[in-house]
Amino acid sequence: MKVSFGSSTLPSSGAVVALALADRVLSPTAERLDKATGGAVKRALAASRFTGKSGQTLTVLAPNGVKASRIVLVGLGKPAEANDLIAERVGGEAVAQLSRSGEKSATVMVDKLAGVKLAPAEFAAHVAYGAVLRGYRFDKYRTKEDADAKPSLASIVVGVDDQAAAKRAYLPLEKVVDGVHFTRDLVSEPANVIFPASLANRAKALTKCGVSVQVLGLAEMKKLGMGALLGVAQGSVNEPRLVVMQWKGAPRARDKRPIAFVGKGVTFDTGGISIKPAASMEDMKWDMGGAGVVMGLMMALAGRKAKVNAVGIAGLVENMPSGTAQRPGDVVTTMSGQTVEVINTDAEGRLVLGDAMWYCQDRFKPRAMIDLATLTGAIIISLGHEQAGLFANDDELADRLIAAGKAVGEPLWRMPLGDAYDRMINSDIADMKNVGSGREAGSITAAQFLKRYVQDGVPWAHLDIAGVTWSKKDSPTVPKGGTAFGVRLLDRLVREHYEG
Ligand code: BES
Ligand code: MN
Ligand code: ZN
Repeated sequence: MKVSFGSSTLPSSGAVVALALADRVLSPTAERLDKATGGAVKRALAASRFTGKSGQTLTVLAPNGVKASRIVLVGLGKPAEANDLIAERVGGEAVAQLSRSGEKSATVMVDKLAGVKLAPAEFAAHVAYGAVLRGYRFDKYRTKEDADAKPSLASIVVGVDDQAAAKRAYLPLEKVVDGVHFTRDLVSEPANVIFPASLANRAKALTKCGVSVQVLGLAEMKKLGMGALLGVAQGSVNEPRLVVMQWKGAPRARDKRPIAFVGKGVTFDTGGISIKPAASMEDMKWDMGGAGVVMGLMMALAGRKAKVNAVGIAGLVENMPSGTAQRPGDVVTTMSGQTVEVINTDAEGRLVLGDAMWYCQDRFKPRAMIDLATLTGAIIISLGHEQAGLFANDDELADRLIAAGKAVGEPLWRMPLGDAYDRMINSDIADMKNVGSGREAGSITAAQFLKRYVQDGVPWAHLDIAGVTWSKKDSPTVPKGGTAFGVRLLDRLVREHYEG
């Protein structure tokens, strides 16, 4: 989807999109369109259930009196409630309405609206942002799609008085879009295309944005003693990788310690010898979602030249059953020196993250560390697909994450940690086992496992994104498929608290 900012004069072709507020209050552009069409807009309004709520749309096709081929009203709800997210939804809904309509272009007219606090230029930037986010499509493997099934809409113009200000406001958002789309691409790719080595290669593209990218291979990880990560990897012919990404955007900061992001990158999770059932196993191609988010986030931060020192680490492995795979009951020694009894080879994400997190802290001494992982099915039982699970050893970090999530529409729900849960992963023969004894508190015992790999004094948060990494239904700014949940959230967290 191409997006640009244009003048606030009515377009001479394509669709024209105008705003409406709650209780059928029309924007100045919508009023103008109504007059020009001899009242067609208000007649359509009277004939429909459209009231101007956020998310509603109303189309008037081929009206007389204007050059546009159709008029689309998009509701934004109560003016006092209008914010970035509402503006993004307007852009997203406009794209959804018009995507397969036959229209090639659309102009969204953003007026100054009574009662709306957001400045029109800012509103326009977020409309553009929402439109491109919704316009994403992963179609590289479709070779035979009918022309009339393909999306027709190719470009959006956002009409606004102060185009310069809108463009300026859009600049950083465009970089976040790049990161989001990068992540969505990685998550959507099948596991025969994305495996540890190829995913590490994709990460190397970040050097173009100014990120330094280093890739550790099998031999290096052996030397470092990453026995848990390597135990997961040993069943696959695809060798593991550890990707280390550094963005140094604040070289002169007083506190140069980076904020660190660590992602689970299981490029395919069969479960290993504790093999998963066949139903939906194909979903496990996106078990590298945490790593994908870390990569997209680094792209966003570097792209918008964020004044922050950030480190991204991705632990990449494929979890396969084979003659060389690890067995239930095997004991592995992690880089931290702690030993793990691997009761269930399907609880592999925590094994990968334990070593990746330890490496991260040993090497970078981060001021805070946040890991992301499609870690447990249990978090889907708890929270469904609406919110991600948040675990933290630090209330301030947790509160900041919750606020950032709320602001960008990627909500987090904080889950508990505690000694009683920690005891559930004690092993009879090693320092810990990789699962609890039953299925109870499955997401919490997984988080407790990770917590044993957090060094003293490091503020740490864990996001269990198993329920939100992939979506089976469209939402206003996220088409179904890979969501990149976490990129916008963590970009926002950095912007609010770790820059400058
Ligand atoms: N990758 C899965 C978790 C998952 C499940 C993500 C469904 C997305 C959708 C993880 O590696 C896993 O298999 N977890 C097990 C843990 C269990 C063996 C303790 C699970 O959740 O069943
Ligand atoms: Mn698993
Ligand atoms: Zn997994």
